[in-house]
Amino acid sequence: MYLPENIVTNRDLEKTLDTTDEWIRARTGIAERRIARKDESASSMGIAASHMALQAAGLKAADLDMIIVCTSTPDVIYPATACFVQKELGAEKAAAYDISAVCSGFVFGLSIAEQYIKSGRYEHILIIGTEVNSRIMDWTDRTTCVLFGDGAGAAILRRTEKTEPCGILSSHIYSDGTQSDLLIVPGGIGKTSFTYEAIDNKMYCLKMSGQSTFKVAVKRMTEVSKEALAHNGLTQSDIDLVVPHQANQRIIEAVAEKLGVPMEQVFVNIHKYGNTGSASIAIAIHEAREEGRTPPGSVTLLTVMGAGLTWGSVVVKW
Ligand code: ACO
Repeated sequence: MYLPENIVTNRDLEKTLDTTDEWIRARTGIAERRIARKDESASSMGIAASHMALQAAGLKAADLDMIIVCTSTPDVIYPATACFVQKELGAEKAAAYDISAVCSGFVFGLSIAEQYIKSGRYEHILIIGTEVNSRIMDWTDRTTCVLFGDGAGAAILRRTEKTEPCGILSSHIYSDGTQSDLLIVPGGIGKTSFTYEAIDNKMYCLKMSGQSTFKVAVKRMTEVSKEALAHNGLTQSDIDLVVPHQANQRIIEAVAEKLGVPMEQVFVNIHKYGNTGSASIAIAIHEAREEGRTPPGSVTLLTVMGAGLTWGSVVVKW
């Protein structure tokens, strides 16, 4: 994972917004978040995380067959941010492209990579979740800007010849475009011309219906988690760790309760980073592994909901 050094606390936000540390902590669980420097971007953070992932995997960039960058804050309209990553890594043979599934990006990316690996087509796929959410915030809107942060995480999926079930046991991904208005950055090059008027109207900033998003997040994350358990013939007690998307502590607690999983088995780091969009699950997995919470043979459930709407789950056996 890579996180910008710059920490913005709730107390810092109190200086410019009509908000309080107490309100933000109580309603979201967030205490602070990282905000990228001007010279940091989705690609620069993703590249930093990718170097670490390659080193951890003992691979060279030349070994990569594919690079999937999951982001809703790409460096430019085109080319894909993944192409900048490919250039910097020197991953010449990798097909490189972006996917846009917002907070669900990393889970969607894992699911795509899983298919290429399981089909035998590719050996090594780099998946990156990276976001500079700070660039699409309305920093005068206390209902949204306190929630998000910047950061990146990367993982490499590789083929194994092991015969017992291991690695990604299942992935399920879904979308519901009829609820696209719940979370949206309405400005876009295709629909809204890039004009001063659009900028003045904050068309390039996130708009969110908080309460509706909250409810649908609990519903979809619970539903897709139960589907994942049933698909694998598992019960709650077979899951050693749940790594949920870090959007709101209360969403995480509600999902855990509905699944019947105690909070000790749920990984939470939202207090440090806020909602880092498609990077959230990748960063959380990394920290969970660093803390020794994914021992060999243990089973982890990833569950997520994001704008689109999109949602999904992945079950991993380490
Ligand atoms: N500081 C102080 N007061 C605030 C703040 C703030 N930062 N934000 C809102 N308030 C006020 C509201 O204006 C409102 O005041 P009013 O009663 O005078 O009108 C009051 O607090 C209550 O607001 P609610 O919206 O009812 O608060 P709620 O408990 O629903 O919490 C929140 C809001 C935190 C946004 C919650 O709804 C939430 O987390 N929703 C889900 C968000 C989410 O998960 N988004 C990401 C999805 S992932 C993706 O793809 C991007």
